[in-house]
Amino acid sequence: TQTRITVIPGDGIGPDIIESAIQILDKAGCNFAYDFADAGLAALQTSGELLPKATLDLIEKNKVALKGPLTTPVGAGFTSINVSLRKHFNLYANLRPVLSFKGTRSRYENIDIITVRENTQGMYSGAGQIVSDDGSEAEAKSIITRDGAERICVAAYELAKSENRKKVTAIHKANILKTTSGLFLEVAREVAKRYPEIESEEMIVDAACMNLVMYPERFDVIVTTNLFGDILSDLCAGLVGGLGMAPGANIGEDTAIFEAVHGSAPDIAGKNLANPTSVILASIQMLEYLEMKTQADNIRNAVRDVIESGDRTTRDLGGSHGTTDFTQAILERL
Ligand code: NAI
Ligand code: MG
Repeated sequence: TQTRITVIPGDGIGPDIIESAIQILDKAGCNFAYDFADAGLAALQTSGELLPKATLDLIEKNKVALKGPLTTPVGAGFTSINVSLRKHFNLYANLRPVLSFKGTRSRYENIDIITVRENTQGMYSGAGQIVSDDGSEAEAKSIITRDGAERICVAAYELAKSENRKKVTAIHKANILKTTSGLFLEVAREVAKRYPEIESEEMIVDAACMNLVMYPERFDVIVTTNLFGDILSDLCAGLVGGLGMAPGANIGEDTAIFEAVHGSAPDIAGKNLANPTSVILASIQMLEYLEMKTQADNIRNAVRDVIESGDRTTRDLGGSHGTTDFTQAILERL
């Protein structure tokens, strides 16, 4: 039977880069059936809701979704749609790989790092958001649970095992955030003992930032809490040529949503300028999740060849072509 994928084209550059990814999946012979669903501004305009129930139902039904960036309107009353989706489907692991391709604006070669970010707890849990009546004081709660820390650390080591990676670095700030980061580090150490075949390392987040910039080739798998993972994964995107090169997978017990790390890029939307690589790499993560390794490898090789040869690349990669030309160059190699 045909695998059905829920596709959310999203806002801004979303529809263009998603179209590019779908053409490539089809050309690679993936033979998916797609159910299209709306979220974000596109949904607000047609249905009055940012995250319509019909969209949640389609994600629930197919269990696998490919998603374009969504614009969260600024202003009170709008919570981030991405945070809502991660919470609703309990997508606790956010896997953000970065891989060097020659031909980007990166200063480095041979980078192959995957950040495993806890996706539901920590500073982003939304708990305890209080502003005092006179507006002079604000507070928010950071919550880390033993179970939450354990499942993300186990996810990191299992990923390291399955991808034949050598090292897991737990990144924390337990010296200052003694309770929350302290519990995370304690659990990371316990889980590390169960995987003696994989090297384990721990690093304080500020030192990790310096080391990532100076010696990125020393990193392999990073496991960390929500806020640190958000920031460190963008830093890692910068190591390989920018947000146009950075995909992310949000994985739960039985549901997974694949997306680009970047946003809807309103400044270049509708101009055929967007680099679709992030969402194409996210679709490769989706293929690996579905155990379609051949198609995943074929698409990755085609993208690599286009970027390394500079054949019809987009402006952010130093080229002068648009989304459609770049996509065509990849299609011709499949
Ligand atoms: P952004 O990531 O959309 O754009 C930042 C800069 O990177 C812009 O100059 C943009 O042109 C460039 N850029 C991003 N993706 C690119 C691509 N594929 N090719 C070439 N250039 C690219 O971040 P910004 O402007 O802060 O946010 C815009 C909107 O996106 C906001 O409404 C925000 O809420 C939303 N957003 C959504 C995310 C998601 O759905 N996962 C993630 C981050 C932001
Ligand atoms: Mg972010």
